[in-house]
Amino acid sequence: MSPPAFFAKTHSSVWSPNLFADKVVLCTGGAGTICSVQVAALIKLGANAAILGRRAAHTSEVASQLATLRPGARVLGISCDVRDASSLIAAAEQTVKELGRIDFLIAGAAGNFLASVEQLSTNAFKSVMDIDVLGSYNIVKACLPYLKWSKGRILFVSATLHYTGSPFQIHVSAAKAAVDALSRVLAVELGPLGITSNVVAPGPIAGTEGISRLATESYMEAVRKSTPLQRLGEAYNIADATIFLFSEAGSYVNGDIIVVDGGAWHRQGSL
Ligand code: HXC
Repeated sequence: MSPPAFFAKTHSSVWSPNLFADKVVLCTGGAGTICSVQVAALIKLGANAAILGRRAAHTSEVASQLATLRPGARVLGISCDVRDASSLIAAAEQTVKELGRIDFLIAGAAGNFLASVEQLSTNAFKSVMDIDVLGSYNIVKACLPYLKWSKGRILFVSATLHYTGSPFQIHVSAAKAAVDALSRVLAVELGPLGITSNVVAPGPIAGTEGISRLATESYMEAVRKSTPLQRLGEAYNIADATIFLFSEAGSYVNGDIIVVDGGAWHRQGSL
């Protein structure tokens, strides 16, 4: 099974090849573009992985593709919904049973669509809050016993849209603000146990499912022009930040948010 084109460059060439030998990452939303590239980078640098996703066939296919990236790599594709806490407990148990440990948790599962306040139903708002916030909380709880043992690292995939008022994104803005808050509390509460918690906040990343569903090409061109670095991000840019945070170099970073957006959110008002 040949991997998709975006697995060709998953990270910069500055990292040591065996940086994450014997480490295990568990990632919710791991079959999505950004998270799969984060996981791909860790696998290429020696880690084994479990990716969790709602779509069973897709999750299993991406897991098979990820397993081709390094000889001997072991990758589990586990079908579950982050809103179902018991399915996450089972997924964490399966990961430890089959891969031996959990060192890194990436909480990346998210829901998104554009809707005005007038059109958004209470249930639609709740769905995104449940996937993003409750789902992130649930996976932290499921992995915590194992992260305590490994003195592991937690990374939430958030966004920048809630730093300003983003129209048609009231549900996602509330959810991502809450995700940032989860991380901050965990950093303080779990820090004494040797566990770090941080957030990576991607800006507009080319080629993701989220962007293809949320924005037109002309809007993305306007975003590109207004971004100080004059280009959209790529998934490997998020993977590089992830590698840094999970490596020894990132060991004293705790409770922080790394924005990886080429400076874009500082200029959002100019669009
Ligand atoms: C208005 C919508 C809607 C839409 C769903 N709903 N889509 N309302 N506009 N486009 C409403 C439904 O009508 C329903 O409300 C409620 O949401 C729940 O919908 P369900 O179909 O039951 O689906 P559910 O399983 O709960 O999942 C909800 C979902 C999810 C949020 C729509 O399926 C989803 O988002 N999938 C896409 C995943 C994705 O793209 N992830 C990448 C995120 S990118 P009613 O009232 O009818 O019951 C990201 C980065 C952001 O987060 C930053 C970008 C720059």
